[in-house]
Amino acid sequence: MRDALGAVQSVLVLGGGSEIAGAIVDRLVGARCRTVVLAAREPDALDPTLDRLRAAGAATAEAVAFDALDPGSHQATIDAVFDRHGDIDMVIVAFGVLGDQATFDHDPVAAAEAASANYVGAVSASLVVADRFRRQGHGTLLVLSSVAGVRTRADNYVYGSTKAGLDAFAQGLGDALVGTGARVVVVRPGFVHTKMTEGRPPAPFSTTPDAVADAVMAGLAKGREVIWAPPVLVALFTVFRVLPRAVWRRVSAR
Ligand SMILES: NC(=O)c1ccc[n+]([C@@H]2O[C@H](COP(=O)([O-])OP(=O)(O)OC[C@H]3O[C@@H](n4cnc5c(N)ncnc54)[C@H](OP(=O)(O)O)[C@@H]3O)[C@@H](O)[C@H]2O)c1
Repeated sequence: MRDALGAVQSVLVLGGGSEIAGAIVDRLVGARCRTVVLAAREPDALDPTLDRLRAAGAATAEAVAFDALDPGSHQATIDAVFDRHGDIDMVIVAFGVLGDQATFDHDPVAAAEAASANYVGAVSASLVVADRFRRQGHGTLLVLSSVAGVRTRADNYVYGSTKAGLDAFAQGLGDALVGTGARVVVVRPGFVHTKMTEGRPPAPFSTTPDAVADAVMAGLAKGREVIWAPPVLVALFTVFRVLPRAVWRRVSAR
């Protein structure tokens, strides 16, 4: 349960090794969050992160096994976290794979796997969380979407389409949860320098996990349902969204 000042006291990160989520969690712990659960494919690899979070003030920091590609396991994994810690104030859906469009073009199985992780896995895990939030009467589901889903580009349309699906799902879920005390916040970052984008040429307005986390904290404080990072992207994509296809093909190919 949030404390008397409304600060998040407990957070579960699905995709616990995400650098963007890591920067958000650092800020939450700095603002009195005391319980952190990182759910990841390789929980043991997160030991140094857990030590750092404990040193920063987290009373409980643990990692649990979680695979977005195994939706059949999501109910038990997420239920176990809620049952062990009582209320969870915030869940961050942070897992995702970018992949490479040129590879996907010739490897439909790899493309389907990326879609399964980014979209199917997020649908499954989020529905489990939503049910727990309904039952506890509060909770914020923070979903890391992407501007890539706002208008898909030819050079990463598989990834973009997974984010478009995720974004639409998250908005619908947020609408369905109105009145339950639970809410969904969609985060739409542009290009962020993390291990996901390492070695790729940065897009205009590229940013860092810290800057995204600052935008998320500011957006949460203002009660936003959608948070763009950096914020300038909202204006840019308001225009991009309505460009005729032929123009968008030229603009997005630069
Ligand atoms: N970086 C960007 O430019 C950018 C822009 C917009 C949106 N986003 C989105 O923001 C989120 C976080 O990305 P990030 O930049 O922080 O990248 P990141 O550091 O690479 O984090 C992505 C995380 O997803 C996890 N993951 C991948 N497949 C998984 C699976 N099957 N099951 C469980 N976890 C899985 C990875 O786990 P491992 O550690 O085991 O590999 C990794 O920790 C992603 O959803 C991404 O699409 C990123």
